[in-house]
Amino acid sequence: MKLFGTSKINEKGNLSIGGVDTNDLAKEFETPLYVMDQELIETTIDKMKKAFVSSRFDTHIAYAGKAFFTTGMAKIIEAKDLELDVVSGGELYTAYKAGFPMDKVHMHGNNKSYEELEMAIDLEIKQIVIDNEDEIGKIEKICKEKNKKQAVLLRIDPGIEAHTHHYIKTSGLTSKFGISLFQKDLLDIIKRINDSEYLEFRGFHTHIGSQIFQSIFFIFALEEIFKYLDKLKKELGIVVHTVNMGGGFGVYYKEGDDPVPVEEVLKEIITYTEAMEIKYKIGFKELCIEPGRSIVGNAGTTLYEVGGIKKTVGGKTYVFVNGGMADNIRPALYQAEYEAGITNKLDKEATNEVTVAGKFCESGDILIEKTKIQEAHVGDILAITTTGAYCYTMSSNYNRFAKPAVVFVKDGKAKLAVKRETFEDLIRNDEIFEL
Ligand code: LLP
Repeated sequence: MKLFGTSKINEKGNLSIGGVDTNDLAKEFETPLYVMDQELIETTIDKMKKAFVSSRFDTHIAYAGKAFFTTGMAKIIEAKDLELDVVSGGELYTAYKAGFPMDKVHMHGNNKSYEELEMAIDLEIKQIVIDNEDEIGKIEKICKEKNKKQAVLLRIDPGIEAHTHHYIKTSGLTSKFGISLFQKDLLDIIKRINDSEYLEFRGFHTHIGSQIFQSIFFIFALEEIFKYLDKLKKELGIVVHTVNMGGGFGVYYKEGDDPVPVEEVLKEIITYTEAMEIKYKIGFKELCIEPGRSIVGNAGTTLYEVGGIKKTVGGKTYVFVNGGMADNIRPALYQAEYEAGITNKLDKEATNEVTVAGKFCESGDILIEKTKIQEAHVGDILAITTTGAYCYTMSSNYNRFAKPAVVFVKDGKAKLAVKRETFEDLIRNDEIFEL
């Protein structure tokens, strides 16, 4: 099991993260528990900020809250002076309640509700990313009512098919996101936005997918965008202010994954954008990206308690843990693979081939199909690494499972970021109605 950031084996032979023994965390906060390595999040952001700079245009990194978001996380993003990408009223509300500066918020979504758009406009966020034609009229109507003008980007789909799981591809000629660069009336759509008295057209947004390992796909996308920006300038005289390349930078999950360090990918994007700018002389002012997973993915570890070990007659050995698909849907949904280890035996060899299964009422509730871990016993704490992105945010109450707590660890201290749900929380919105 590969360890990241401050994760290490301490003097007691136990896994420690942020200087805190994970066995102590399991005792104090109980399991399952999401543990976030705050220092790793912060140093990753620092590295990305250092790499993503240009002398030719401004650069901004907007953290994609969908990967992992709480009010505490909003505070970290604010302290690091990043911008923020939200994709729902709920994410926007979380940022607002955390006191996050609204003029650094971007809003996405392929079907933003009228209420979500109204909230974004009222809160005067930095920009709304228009996803489709119907949204143009909706935003104009709200702005007209409120006598406001809203800055917008247009999400375009450059038609780049990146090599990633097909559920997390967002580009291609049949994608539900954005407007294709190959759509015949695209220039008319842009003209409509640009001419609107209620909209300030700032530029293009794209996001070609998630967990992408080959940076060449970002380069292909940039190339298509710049070719189109050139056409836009020549045919309509429109010079865009912003190009937002979205997120999608891949991270290590399991042996065999070999992602290029994100700071190198960012440098490559900068170099290529500078070259495109020199070639086409577009005169744009701002390049943005929206990473989520690459900021929080490796910083998260989930701790579970082993409740049983079952050797089947077919020869398969299961290690049962007290969580599963409700706290991490990714293996079931995307066949995502993870690494695991027993927290007080990491210095021992991982010789036992097991399947780590959850406690939910589904055969598909398998966290790791086949992995080698140290010998497990009932009561052991099992850690799964790289659960920082899209685990807590995609968690559910399936089987009336109370969602786990989230703690941030740093410098030997653990801070509760989200309380563990209680059974009371589970029935809070239920109504016992007259029969
Ligand atoms: N910007 C936009 C417009 C996006 O749609 C996404 C992710 C991001 C940025 C951030 O992408 P990242 O840097 O985190 O790859 N639930 C899936 C991932 C879905 C990603 C959706 N969009 C998973 O667990 O793999």
